[in-house]
Amino acid sequence: MNNILVTGANGLLALELREKLQLHPEFNVYYASKEDCDITNMSNIHSYVKDKKIDIILNCAANRNAEQMESDYNASKLITVEGPKNLAIIANELGATLVHFSSDYVFDGKKSTPYTEDDKTNGLSVYGKLKVEGENAVLKIANTVIVIRTAWIFSSYGQDFVKTIRRLAETRDEIKVIYDQVGSPSYAGDLAEYIIQMLPKIKKGTKEIYHLTNEGVCSWYDLAFYIVQLFKLSCKVIPIHTAEFPQKAQRPHYSVLDKSKVIRDFGLNIRHYSEGLWECIKKILENEKCQ
Ligand SMILES: NC(=O)c1ccc[n+]([C@@H]2O[C@H](COP(=O)([O-])OP(=O)(O)OC[C@H]3O[C@@H](n4cnc5c(N)ncnc54)[C@H](OP(=O)(O)O)[C@@H]3O)[C@@H](O)[C@H]2O)c1
Repeated sequence: MNNILVTGANGLLALELREKLQLHPEFNVYYASKEDCDITNMSNIHSYVKDKKIDIILNCAANRNAEQMESDYNASKLITVEGPKNLAIIANELGATLVHFSSDYVFDGKKSTPYTEDDKTNGLSVYGKLKVEGENAVLKIANTVIVIRTAWIFSSYGQDFVKTIRRLAETRDEIKVIYDQVGSPSYAGDLAEYIIQMLPKIKKGTKEIYHLTNEGVCSWYDLAFYIVQLFKLSCKVIPIHTAEFPQKAQRPHYSVLDKSKVIRDFGLNIRHYSEGLWECIKKILENEKCQ
């Protein structure tokens, strides 16, 4: 069980996985970008995996732009449902394990206590609804599959909330950020670490959903406030209601995920998002110094 395929190799999570997996010589990893291996194109996947003897597929390929997805249903369905279905079929052909990623946006946010894997899904947006369909498809098709629902990913790589807030805070005296959407942020570097710990423990024939984020709960406003502080910027962060920042895709007001199951089954020791945030920002600043 040593050959891994990481799809969507240039994304927030995949790039952190690449960094962490370098420290694990027991894994031989193939990183496939959209150009190398388009998951919506079956013959493309077949020719990429040919002769590679893939044991595990980590499907990081996705479109996470919920706004864009509201106005492009067909393309959104292709990447969010059909692509994962293709990978489930390929995983079976190869006898491989499929690890597929989903989102807290599969829930409608009407609860006020953390969502468990058994809670009823009810995505509010095209992204949320299609993520549910994608989950159901891979769980039905793949012989060995785990679906990891995560949330609010930030990363030292790529474009994310951390870099957006930093950019805005560097150029404005004040920024307004939503405070009535509450969730658990996830540092992609930590997610990568936890996923690597999970891989050797996934048993053949498993078909499970797991919730995995960092510990801690906050609003986007709180997260932005921390980011501005950690970058030592003087910009004022002002809390606003969702209604004051109209968006096409409806987001859940509350989407904290209960991680008891993943902690129990894999013995993970999950740290608070603020520790991940601090590490992420240090890495961003150090990388800039090296440039
Ligand atoms: N980011 C979050 O806050 C968040 C929250 C909850 C769940 N998730 C889920 O976590 C997973 C990883 O997310 P992420 O934030 O790392 O995503 P990401 O940064 O958007 O990366 C996704 C990657 O997939 C690639 N891709 C797009 N279409 C593809 C195709 N047809 N075939 C192969 N690759 C394709 C993209 O390439 P291009 O950029 O060239 O299109 C991109 O490099 C996703 O399933 C996402 O839905 C993310």
